[in-house]
Amino acid sequence: MTSTSNPTAKPIKHFLQFSDFTRAEFEYVIERASVIKRKFKNYEVYHPLVDRTLVMVFEKNSTRTRLSFEAGMHQLGGAAIYLNTRDSQLGRGEPVEDAGQVMSRMCDIIMVRTFGQEIIERFAAHSRVPVINGLTNEHHPCQVLADIYTYWEHRGSITGKTVAWVGDANNMLYSWLQAAEVFGFHLNVSTPKGYDMDMSLVQTDRYTFFENPSDACAGADLVNTDVWTSMGYEKENAERIKAFAGFMVDDEKMARAHKDALFMHCLPAHRGEEVAASVIDGPQSVVWDEAENRLHVQKALIEYLLLGQL
Ligand code: CP
Repeated sequence: MTSTSNPTAKPIKHFLQFSDFTRAEFEYVIERASVIKRKFKNYEVYHPLVDRTLVMVFEKNSTRTRLSFEAGMHQLGGAAIYLNTRDSQLGRGEPVEDAGQVMSRMCDIIMVRTFGQEIIERFAAHSRVPVINGLTNEHHPCQVLADIYTYWEHRGSITGKTVAWVGDANNMLYSWLQAAEVFGFHLNVSTPKGYDMDMSLVQTDRYTFFENPSDACAGADLVNTDVWTSMGYEKENAERIKAFAGFMVDDEKMARAHKDALFMHCLPAHRGEEVAASVIDGPQSVVWDEAENRLHVQKALIEYLLLGQL
């Protein structure tokens, strides 16, 4: 998304959903992520963003997103400031448009995790600096970017491959559907009854729906799932667990996938619910690389949004 609402500012590039970037832009960011990752692994100092500030707004809790953005900005030579709705004025009635105006005058880039896609879009439309989606109810583009980078590291290009999605239709699935259109791959989707896709969020025909989750995994190059119930809400979500019976990614489902298939999960995970311990801790799982790669792709993303192509 490009914001032009502020007539005095040049157009700003935001990353609010996966479809905001072209394939060429993603290919550039992925290439930069591997350069930046190599520098990090070699203890090479790389500080292109000295005196630049990232503000991170969290309406919901996070481990990976906060750590990867905060550590990443620090490693690029800049600073990161954490705000949540408990210790700030955010979410207490100040119009989101005003918050976007004020915050963007004091920093260089902003990451927002909020319940509403509509909220981040209104915020970004009034921001003078790039805004990155750190997860909303509809999209999780940074996670899918890390997943595609991780696939590329292990198996090469994802173009032409088949990705199985087993679980409810959530922000990860909608970002995967957008990624399928950008990168040219196919999604096999299996969601439990009552947790189906909101078709207003699906703008691609690069997917096939399967009632049986095992059939969705057949021949897949990558099997992907997500937590059924948010951490800490397990008791309240007992009904969900009943509805998801049969949707656990287990050895039987992985056996139906391609012999070189990878398993991914954006974490946190409940072993024995959405994924069997033998799968997430098994040889096809790349979940730790997937988590680490949030750091490297987001550093490349911030560098691109602030400095353009180098
Ligand atoms: N995968 C992910 O976004 O994790 P966090 O909720 O810990 O940030």
